[in-house]
Amino acid sequence: MRFLLFSTLFLLAGALSAKVVAGDSKRGSELIKSQGCVNCHRIGGEGGSAGPDLGKARSRNYTPASMASAMWNHAPAMWSSMEKMGASKPRMSETQAGDLFAYFQSIRYFDKPGDAARGSRVFAASKCGECHGRASALFGGAPPIAAWKSVAAPIAFAQQMWNHYPQMEAAMAQRKIHWSALTSQELTDILVYVQGLPETRGMSREFSLVSDGRGEALFTEKGCLGCHQGSLDLKKRQVSGTVTDFATAMWNHAPSMAAVAKKFSKPYPRLEGTEMRDLMSYLWDQQLYAERGNATRGVKVFEKKNCVSCHTAGGTGPDLKSQLAARGGPVRSFSMMAVLWQHGPQMLEGMKAKKLAWPAFTEAEMSDLVAYLNSLQGGAKGAD
Ligand code: HEC
Ligand code: HEC
Ligand code: HEC
Ligand code: HEC
Repeated sequence: MRFLLFSTLFLLAGALSAKVVAGDSKRGSELIKSQGCVNCHRIGGEGGSAGPDLGKARSRNYTPASMASAMWNHAPAMWSSMEKMGASKPRMSETQAGDLFAYFQSIRYFDKPGDAARGSRVFAASKCGECHGRASALFGGAPPIAAWKSVAAPIAFAQQMWNHYPQMEAAMAQRKIHWSALTSQELTDILVYVQGLPETRGMSREFSLVSDGRGEALFTEKGCLGCHQGSLDLKKRQVSGTVTDFATAMWNHAPSMAAVAKKFSKPYPRLEGTEMRDLMSYLWDQQLYAERGNATRGVKVFEKKNCVSCHTAGGTGPDLKSQLAARGGPVRSFSMMAVLWQHGPQMLEGMKAKKLAWPAFTEAEMSDLVAYLNSLQGGAKGAD
């Protein structure tokens, strides 16, 4: 009884105590230095070589869940190499895990690798280059790439494209150019192309998620809710997920948005300041992006990986259900990074004592586990 009480108090400051987590790439870039990650990993062109290069473009689609599972899978090896180097094991709060995640977003870790040469071709094929020169306007006052306010961050970029749609539409009509929908690979390629030009190189890249809850109101104010109900209710859709996918979805919307606005004699809904980011954060909170697990399968993962051996009535681990219910915001894959860095070493000891194997996860298992943990919070939030 005394132990239980103690552990409950202790856990109030646990890895999952943060309510809703915002992430900030600038803090994240500090973190990889202060936590010593760069001593062993190259990231963004600098760092050690004891661990794999984390900045390298991957040949596969890298998601937050695959990153969290990679970290879990490599953790025992990582810890023993830390012990050998005499480095202390970093502990990480969920806010810090969120910042780290935002940092990886900002270096486009989760996007399919883009290709500048392909981007240049898409830029031409989509006729962007008919109006936008690299250093000078070619038509209708279209700002040259060198003057674009945001090429460094996909969300800000999406906002610029979204806001300029009405003028772009007018210029397109004059030049008899058809507007083109883009795939998320194409937008990634365009971004890599415009970011790599001599005119824009060196702009710092940023990514942040906010948690001020303004997104929900915006979703109504900007007329999104008008369409997104019933079969288009985004909560019911399985959205595939990176930030660039979101940016692409927004670009592909612009014409129908403009048409709806015209039909109801309303102004086109421009997004100001951080509004695109607020909308993104809101949809993110709804687990629409990046998390695609299944809670029912997650129960099996929880059993198969021996989590139940401690997290059960009378076990040495805390009751996750009451802990998660008290938490508020959804659990994310990157929350599982905080869990790993805070509780992992102790968990590893416990597992060794019980002669249990350290759990390795596939990306899908990690997503399912996260969905299960969310369902413990009260059911409705489980992404499924
Ligand atoms: C003492 C050296 C060391 C430190 C410090 C370190 N790592 Fe690692 N890391 C490794 C090694 C070694 C591996 C590969 C382990 C293996 O092969 O199983 C690894 C693997 C990883 C992987 C999996 C990579 C992949 O895609 O397969 C991730 C992600 C990672 N580390 C992130 C981090 C982060 C974030 C930090 C800072 C909080 C950090 N590491 C600190 C040595 C380190
Ligand atoms: C027919 C001409 C035309 C075409 C084609 C065109 N644009 Fe534009 N674009 C414009 C104009 C005009 C503006 C500026 C509108 C304004 O000032 O509000 C603009 C603005 C922008 C901006 C905002 C720049 C800033 O100020 O930060 C971006 C980003 C952009 N366009 C990207 C693209 C991309 C990507 C494509 C191809 C998929 C494209 N445009 C195709 C005419 C065009
Ligand atoms: C005119 C109706 C309409 C309005 C208004 C509208 N949408 Fe959409 N939205 C759609 C349709 C149609 C789709 C595409 C669904 C599909 O792919 O089958 C879509 C898709 C999306 C997607 C991608 C979903 C997926 O399955 O990949 C997102 C995200 C989204 N909308 C967000 C918004 C936001 C944010 C707003 C407000 C700024 C908005 N929408 C306004 C009709 C609308
Ligand atoms: C050997 C026993 C043991 C095993 C096996 C185990 N845990 Fe734990 N777990 C613990 C203990 C003890 C704590 C609390 C430790 C602490 O506060 O540092 C904990 C804490 C946690 C927390 C943190 C709760 C919070 O709010 O901070 C989560 C989440 C968690 N475990 C999930 C899992 C998952 C998922 C698995 C299976 C992959 C697992 N655990 C396997 C013993 C275990």
